[in-house]
Amino acid sequence: MNFFLELIAPLENYDFSNFLHNFVLALPASVLAGIIIFFLLLAFKKLHSREYRLYISIAFILVIAVTSSLYNIGVKTGTLFAVYTEWLHLIVRWTHIIFGVAWIGTSFYFNWLDSRLERDDPDFKHLDGYLWSVHSGGFYRIEKLKGPPEKLPKTLHWFKWEAYATWISGFVLLILVYYFNASSMMLKNDGFALTPSLAIIISISLLIGSWFVYDFICKNIEDNKQELLVSIGFVLFVLLSYFLTEIYGSRAAYIHVGAIIGTIMAANVFRVIIPAQKNLVSSAENKQAPNLQLSIDAKNRSIHNNYFTLPVLFIMISSHFSFTYGAVNNWLILVVLSLAGILTRHYFNLRNKKQYKVWILPSAALIMFFLMIFSSLTIFDSDKKQMSSSLQVVSFNEVQNIIKYRCGTCHAKNPTFEGIEVAPKGVIYDTANDIIKNIKLIKAQAVDSEIMPPNNLTGITNQERETIRIWIEQGANINN
Ligand code: HEC
Repeated sequence: MNFFLELIAPLENYDFSNFLHNFVLALPASVLAGIIIFFLLLAFKKLHSREYRLYISIAFILVIAVTSSLYNIGVKTGTLFAVYTEWLHLIVRWTHIIFGVAWIGTSFYFNWLDSRLERDDPDFKHLDGYLWSVHSGGFYRIEKLKGPPEKLPKTLHWFKWEAYATWISGFVLLILVYYFNASSMMLKNDGFALTPSLAIIISISLLIGSWFVYDFICKNIEDNKQELLVSIGFVLFVLLSYFLTEIYGSRAAYIHVGAIIGTIMAANVFRVIIPAQKNLVSSAENKQAPNLQLSIDAKNRSIHNNYFTLPVLFIMISSHFSFTYGAVNNWLILVVLSLAGILTRHYFNLRNKKQYKVWILPSAALIMFFLMIFSSLTIFDSDKKQMSSSLQVVSFNEVQNIIKYRCGTCHAKNPTFEGIEVAPKGVIYDTANDIIKNIKLIKAQAVDSEIMPPNNLTGITNQERETIRIWIEQGANINN
């Protein structure tokens, strides 16, 4: 029992009988809530199975009862909120990736399929093409028809929920990570001063507005002028990246570029691609000719989505690479990296059509190489500076004090910064050992870039960053 108690409430002063007592007291109200949920779930067509609804309601009852008992034995609301949102964050991010993989996976698969279909077999002239493949224990033969089938099959698979679920989980993630922590996660360290609520309003407006601008441009440029469309799109992308890095903190800016493109991609599916497919199906049912323009638009948007994937995927992993989003010209790095991604996608798209443009991939690689060199010039430069600054030895005491006051308010076992209940990302700087262990991350987040402290909430000075840098360059010695 005590072991279980330690698991759910690791502090000795919560005694289990007290928890149990509160749990029993919380049950009647929780069961009532559970019954309401049981009937509310009837609203969802897929949940008409009684058994399914029963299990969901019981799960809800347990969650509500445990939560309210924890509250009643003295766990603070803020702490509960912090712990629950962190875990919710984990689950939502996990599902976001799973849905995203499913979406991009099917999109890549169908693109590949279309380009590899056997179309020249004289025995199968009645087909648009077919393809044999072998995968996990079986042979598959896929056929693409020239028009609609004589009779529509009972089950027709659509591939749309992957896209919608990716967008929905992504938006929830944006709320959890950025909107809930707008003052530390969205605002800029220096320069443009937004209020948190204004930052959120701008974010939502941009997500919605960008789709309408993109859609307007697509509709008003003729199908045979794709170069013009690509040029306008690219200029807008550059402006957007620059604008966002001007108004938001660096990571928020990057994520917003990704979120905006992701919204456009999902809206392409929702507003253009799926309506065109619906039109195909309904015309097949009514034996009418489908609206050809709808299909052409859908194909175009699907190609746009295909090119968007590589930049968006980079943005989603960019938070692991502070030398990109944390750099001074971070918007330019984003633009150039996206260009390399789009070029790479272009190469493979052409290759799938059996057009081999050999110059593309090496050019994309060179773009990345020169981006690396140019964006690292300041780091190379600081190697030179080290000579002059190393004359005077920085003491560890001085560094530890800076970290204690500028970082330790949040990054401690027991954070003292208001609103921070647990050390963010588990990064803790309580002891000399903690600091040594995390030295690379400190350098990346607070010396090579100015990402930490978020929005410089603790007012670290450039002099202090420089002191940490010199100490690290002198060997990060805790006996200095
Ligand atoms: C106001 C609170 C606060 C202060 C002060 C603060 N941080 Fe952070 N730190 C955060 C938050 C919040 C995150 C999580 C950011 C996220 O989820 O992306 C974080 C994340 C980090 C990470 C992990 C980054 C990653 O993506 O793995 C490091 C390293 C870090 N901080 C270092 C520092 C250093 C060094 C300082 C002092 C110069 C500092 N922080 C000061 C709140 C703070």
